Amino acid sequence: QIFANSKEASGAVAREIADLIRQTQKEGRSCVLGLATGSSPKTVYAQLVRMHREEGLSFRNVISFNLDEYYQMEPDSIHSYHRFMKEQLFDLVDIPKENYFIPDGTVPSKLLREYCASYENKINAVGGLDFQLLGIGGNGHIGFNEPGSLINARTRLITLDHSTRAAASMEFGGLHKVPRKAITLGVAPILNARRIVLLAWGERKASVIRAAVEGHVTELNPASYLQAHPDVSFVLDESAASEL
Ligand code: GLP
Repeated sequence: QIFANSKEASGAVAREIADLIRQTQKEGRSCVLGLATGSSPKTVYAQLVRMHREEGLSFRNVISFNLDEYYQMEPDSIHSYHRFMKEQLFDLVDIPKENYFIPDGTVPSKLLREYCASYENKINAVGGLDFQLLGIGGNGHIGFNEPGSLINARTRLITLDHSTRAAASMEFGGLHKVPRKAITLGVAPILNARRIVLLAWGERKASVIRAAVEGHVTELNPASYLQAHPDVSFVLDESAASEL
């Protein structure tokens, strides 16, 4: 789906999420969302916050699972995805505190395997993801599933690519300050979501979007795995779609 600009595109995605939340409320069940960080989803969260304030959209039945977190990372650090999600969404709407989950960047390394398995189990225990929101890295990563991640990759600790760390270096105030590792939801649990929407804005994403949508399905571009999913949309602005 190609929109004139990211604002219109974000509006459409936020409406889809809001419709899903309202639908699940009517059905008297939880709405299980997979949420993403990065700059791309910010405008979607801003629209959802606006709908909460202006239209009374309630998040009381939402259960959410974030894709990833840097490792090691304290939740209250300004660089943490915990902080990001609280500032962009959770503290601005009525989602109950016990309903949102973000990988814990402080888990001791010897407990990580167990922790990652339990994170996935928690998603399954509430019925799986109704909707997964994704961004895309310049190298095709989804969550932090870097190139080389297999289609059956589970939730795990991953070593970040140099290009991923370089892209984050401004924010961290230098490459040496960017963590070398992260916890990421695996490719397999992402593909298990019943509906997936990937967002990309701007010309810098144009070539990786082309490769993901029109290229071969390859571990060199993990976003290309989405081609195998039965209900996925790439929601793009005109610049991100310019090489299609
Ligand atoms: C980080 C996140 C990804 C995100 C990517 C792209 O690497 N872990 O989930 O998709 O950034 O970020 P942006 O949307 O800022 O381009």
